Amino acid sequence: MTTAARTHAATDADPAPWWRQAVVYQIYPRSFADADGDGLGDLRGILARVDYLSELGVDAVWLSPFYPSALADGGYDVADYRDVDPRLGTLDDFDALVQQLHDRGIRVVVDIVPNHTSDRHVWFQEAVAAGRGSAARDRYVFREGSGPAGDLPPTDWLSMFGGSAWERVEDGQWYLHHFAVEQPDLNWAHPEVRSDFIRTLRFWADRGVDGFRIDVAHMLTKDLSEPLPSKAELDTRPLDGTHPLLDRDDVHDVYAEWRKVLDSYDPPRTAVAEAWVAPARIPLYASPTSLGQAFNFDLLEADFDAAQFRSVVENNLALAARSGSSSTWVLSNHDVVRHATRYGLPAPGRTAEGRPTHRHGREWLLAGGVSDLDVKGGLRRARAATLFLLGLPGSAYLYQGEELGLHEVADIPAALRQDPTHTRSRGFDVGRDGCRVPLPWSSSGPSLGFGPGPAHLPQPGWMARYAVTEQENDPGSTLNLYRLALQLRRRLLEGEDLQWRTTGRPDVLRFARHGGFEVVTNFGPTDAPLDGGQVLLSSGEMRHDVLPAETTVWLRPHG
Ligand code: NOJ
Repeated sequence: MTTAARTHAATDADPAPWWRQAVVYQIYPRSFADADGDGLGDLRGILARVDYLSELGVDAVWLSPFYPSALADGGYDVADYRDVDPRLGTLDDFDALVQQLHDRGIRVVVDIVPNHTSDRHVWFQEAVAAGRGSAARDRYVFREGSGPAGDLPPTDWLSMFGGSAWERVEDGQWYLHHFAVEQPDLNWAHPEVRSDFIRTLRFWADRGVDGFRIDVAHMLTKDLSEPLPSKAELDTRPLDGTHPLLDRDDVHDVYAEWRKVLDSYDPPRTAVAEAWVAPARIPLYASPTSLGQAFNFDLLEADFDAAQFRSVVENNLALAARSGSSSTWVLSNHDVVRHATRYGLPAPGRTAEGRPTHRHGREWLLAGGVSDLDVKGGLRRARAATLFLLGLPGSAYLYQGEELGLHEVADIPAALRQDPTHTRSRGFDVGRDGCRVPLPWSSSGPSLGFGPGPAHLPQPGWMARYAVTEQENDPGSTLNLYRLALQLRRRLLEGEDLQWRTTGRPDVLRFARHGGFEVVTNFGPTDAPLDGGQVLLSSGEMRHDVLPAETTVWLRPHG
């Protein structure tokens, strides 16, 4: 044994809250299942698959936005925070879904997108109509342009999706949008903006929602005092809570208010921050007086490498302990190249700053590297990484389709791509559509069982081999690996301790959990000796006393 990490341990008198070690399954509703055949997934589609979710064994589902939206950013452009997009269903469908999930013991987390609305939101429509200087414009960030005629953007700030962060309206004023043009940033200094989001939280909490995922939680509050700094000036400002636009300390005033609302429910509602901030600042979001939990994307950014995985785990358990929260682990989501594909790429090069050149794999996709992909190796490593992740203390966030071992769809024709990161970067960024292709439920049919009609993004022929129906009765399938792992995890998890064991090999990691099971991962390219223990589950075929290359095993040690 080398080091021990200790976090919150439940006692009989004080059972740990459900979310601390929950397996949360992310559903991207437009691409999960389509009941009405219009090509877009919908709530009734999910409703028809609740048994699938229950058999998979997840503790909660997180629904990416299903609100009315022009889908300029896959639903993260919300036109009405307290309704369901008619193409995706109705509030009654939502209530039925919550009921059915709750009946199976599955909790429900919904997405809150507070940094920006859609340009179709009634507030923005009012703001544009009401003209400069109006109260309606004050809910957003409107400014006069620069240059003698005011026809240049107020500053040279860039949108996260490429191009200027400012867009001009007809009367000549400009509004700020850190994401797509159709996503105007809200003004969080405005009391009505603050009170309206509290109303939204209550609206969903009253309908039985158990938790919230907070989109770009680090961007809401901004210091927009004049003169606005240039991009170069911004880039020199430290990210220590005082930056004018990012991760400001005062954002936690917003969340302190939210926390009171969330804690007024029984049981208290949870929240998890999507905050791309320096590691040292994560505990601020995860603290019990703020949102309570924060995503950690470090595993998702790591190579399949023992040293990197170990340092990510150690750092994040320490950060979680500092906030009193539990850690979160993520390998895939709707914004990144699927992990089976990331791990199947040729060894990454390094940028001048030492970053892997295809951290998210998108540069590789753009370079047309489909033929370089090691399809089998990528999946083998993905299965090993997932089984490693599922053994860790803390909560595991899984993304729809990873349980099928799906690869990224790399070759979507440019004309069919939907992601604004593709269009706004003029194709420089290939975009995120490749992980959002509708799921294959069966190996035939118009959209491989996704629905009775076509799929809104093209499904390549190879997807049929990964269909649920193909995997259900195959004991070695990735689907059954996930099912068994989640079953076992539920049975074995006790407390949140992790104790590293020495392995004698730098490319093999081994840790023990309190419930009496050990997780051993061989990250290396050659077999490793494996001493002792009853094999409970493994990500690949095992041989006696041998842990094959790129394989994880869960063991119950002898004696
Ligand atoms: C983060 C979400 O995960 C992403 O999909 C979205 O484009 C941006 N936030 C903007 O809302």
